[in-house]
Amino acid sequence: MKTLETKNLLNIDFKRTCNCKPTNINCMSAKEWLKSQLGVWKFNYEKRDIRDKQAHPATFPISLARKIIDLFTHEGELVVDPFVGSGTTLVAAQDSNRNAVGFDLQEKYIELSKSRLTNGNFFNTSTQIAIQDEARNINQYFEEETISLIWTSPPYANLLNRERKNKSRRFRNNEQLGKVEQYSQDERDLGTLALDSYTQAMGNIYESLLPLLKHKGHCVINVPDMWWENQRITIHVSLIEELRKRGYELRNIIIWDRTNLVNQIGIFGWPSNYITMGVTFEYLLDFWRPPK
Ligand SMILES: C[S@@+](CC[C@H](N)C(=O)[O-])C[C@H]1O[C@@H](n2cnc3c(N)ncnc32)[C@H](O)[C@@H]1O
Repeated sequence: MKTLETKNLLNIDFKRTCNCKPTNINCMSAKEWLKSQLGVWKFNYEKRDIRDKQAHPATFPISLARKIIDLFTHEGELVVDPFVGSGTTLVAAQDSNRNAVGFDLQEKYIELSKSRLTNGNFFNTSTQIAIQDEARNINQYFEEETISLIWTSPPYANLLNRERKNKSRRFRNNEQLGKVEQYSQDERDLGTLALDSYTQAMGNIYESLLPLLKHKGHCVINVPDMWWENQRITIHVSLIEELRKRGYELRNIIIWDRTNLVNQIGIFGWPSNYITMGVTFEYLLDFWRPPK
């Protein structure tokens, strides 16, 4: 283990504050558990969600983050989001009384994350922190085996790093058309990398996070696949293969059905080329750190 001098350790609680049995994976009742067993999930955005693409181009709903946190942690435990963006994970952690730390390269996203957190109340004893730092440095902030859940929606290789030309957007009065929907052109931004180097970089980051995760602690990654020059770019396959090489075990693949969030459908490929709309679903890749 590294010594204190080289670490920038955070003083944040990570132990359960509930009375659940030690072997229980979460605080859910049998009835709540039953509802979570379907492999296809659907969510709606609520008022507190950030939908403004100028504020942040790619946010997931608070209710999605909440479900992942409820499934894989107990009250009082510690959640880490390596690419926290607008801070949705922190909001869900605050709602569910979990300690959480989120990292992002961009100061503006860290400020946005902080602004979404309310001042604590009597029933909420947990802490949520947004830190401007890069995911490659996260292992300096935590002791080994203290994190119960690593949960994030990472940047998606350099696939966002191009002009928006989607046919579905061409016919709409859409402010995003022709824009590069990227978080930044910072060279540390994983969104600037091509798929191979991206996969490698994600592998390096997740390998450095593995010792911090408790054994049987979950690590969930939300990614879509993409179409690029009429080729299917299977980001989820690259990440599964890479994380397996780095010591994670794949437990579940859950489909986030986004059909209720898609506004208009263009005719892609008709009548010669069958192409499903990438935005209609995303993957939730659920790994864990294997038991000791
Ligand atoms: C898909 S967004 C996350 C959005 C988040 N789920 C939400 O609901 O707001 C990915 C984020 O990763 C950040 N990012 C890119 N490269 C990074 C790196 N090397 N370290 C930390 N953050 C990074 C980007 O700035 C961006 O905000």
